[in-house]
Amino acid sequence: MGTPSALCVVGCGYVGLVAAACFAEMGHRVFCVDNDQARIDLLRSGGVPIFERDLPELLSRHRNSINFTGDIEEAAEASDVVFIAVGTPQDPTGGVDLSYVETAISGLSRTLTRYKVIVEKSTVPVRTSTRIRRLLERHRVDPACFDIASNPEFLREGSAVIDFLHPDRIIVGAESQRAAEVLARVYEPLTSGRYYEQPGALRGPRSAACAPPLLQTSPESAEIIKHASNSFLALKISFINAVSTLAEAVGADIEEISKGMGMDSRIGPRFLRAGLGYGGSCFPKDVAAFQADSAQSGVGFRLLDDICNINDYQKKVFVDKVAGALWTLRGKRVAVLGLAYKGGTDDIRKSPSIEVVQRLLSEGAVIVAYDPAAMEKTQTVLPVSDNLSYAHNLYDAASGADAALILTDWEEFKSIDLDRLAQVLRYPIVIDGRNLYSAATMVEHGFTYISMGRPDASPQHVRKSCLAAEPSPEASLSEVL
Ligand code: UGA
Repeated sequence: MGTPSALCVVGCGYVGLVAAACFAEMGHRVFCVDNDQARIDLLRSGGVPIFERDLPELLSRHRNSINFTGDIEEAAEASDVVFIAVGTPQDPTGGVDLSYVETAISGLSRTLTRYKVIVEKSTVPVRTSTRIRRLLERHRVDPACFDIASNPEFLREGSAVIDFLHPDRIIVGAESQRAAEVLARVYEPLTSGRYYEQPGALRGPRSAACAPPLLQTSPESAEIIKHASNSFLALKISFINAVSTLAEAVGADIEEISKGMGMDSRIGPRFLRAGLGYGGSCFPKDVAAFQADSAQSGVGFRLLDDICNINDYQKKVFVDKVAGALWTLRGKRVAVLGLAYKGGTDDIRKSPSIEVVQRLLSEGAVIVAYDPAAMEKTQTVLPVSDNLSYAHNLYDAASGADAALILTDWEEFKSIDLDRLAQVLRYPIVIDGRNLYSAATMVEHGFTYISMGRPDASPQHVRKSCLAAEPSPEASLSEVL
């Protein structure tokens, strides 16, 4: 088999749509399948159902080489390689619900009358490739007509397109050399460096002289590489968050500590940002799935429990800081800056911010929230009420508030007009769950600044211990400060 004639991507979600657009950018003809007809209609009319940088440009650039369809059989029939990129949500036990994968495999089984490679692109538990093989055998598919491979993605929301086209590595877990060679040809434009020399190629860290490596493994190893990589990154975040609790207890500064640790090239500076902890559709789900996988394999992996516990604890730490600064929360007006689970996305799945907002509401706080992209989605889970409203910009959110809380690391929040913020707030208090500012800058602008794993700072050098020191019930907030 030479270069595959066409690729089929099943699932038009974050992974599937980005993969389809990037495969087209690499020069392949692509079928992109989804059983949600409304989504297919939207994509056919040039719409983009997800918020992802560079994706609208790529989809419009390749309108003629991507065929969006609801017909999995027609698409698989015309393709040599079928990527399964359907949802793999968490099931109630913490494991992974593979029913969408099963439906997709059953759907394409009739098209396996000539050789195709079926590729797991969704994040799946170890040994899913074996289960897919068994399912196809049950459908009486000739084993000579297919191979299974695992080709996990390491895309970050917000930079998924660049991550796909400029990857650190491409993992191909194939059960046969034939399947590995087919996938090697799919990725040849990247691994040969050819893509990066193309006029109009999207720029990123890779170049023709520094093309990405492709690592060939067994399917089981590839499946574990995905879960272990996400769990390891989650571990780094929880580790630094645990250290930040220690730093606070002894009056050290977690930003200095992260910097000092990250300068060791064996540790590296990335994923050592302390704060509210990780969220999103991947880390929480993947650590839980890795726990379930290990337990099912009879392997105790208690470190994974600690990663989750530390992550949960960070939200409590933050809410306690708000309560420490504002004393009682009932009726206090609080500006919430950031709802997405991280900057650069409208995704609120498992967002630490949403959990903090829910806790503050349950304590009786009145919240005015602002997010550059995630307000529409948030309103589906946290509708406007007497205690919760949404503002058009961060200054409106902060207007008359007792404090501003920074919950998401949006670029916009790194360059706030601090004089204006101080002016509109009722009290100049900022509680920063993402450590976006230096204490010196905030104090210079007149703020009491409370952050994660660093000493509290205020113009009067009032420390948290003083704030919490038994004020009389009648004391107004300004007296306390
Ligand atoms: C993550 C991985 O980084 C990707 O490699 C992987 O492909 C993806 O999951 C997935 O499995 O699909 P993503 O969830 O988009 O990507 O976001 P990250 O940028 O990794 O951030 C995850 C969370 O960790 C965010 O809530 C972020 O705020 C938090 N984080 C990250 C920290 O709290 N501290 C850090 O130092 C870094």
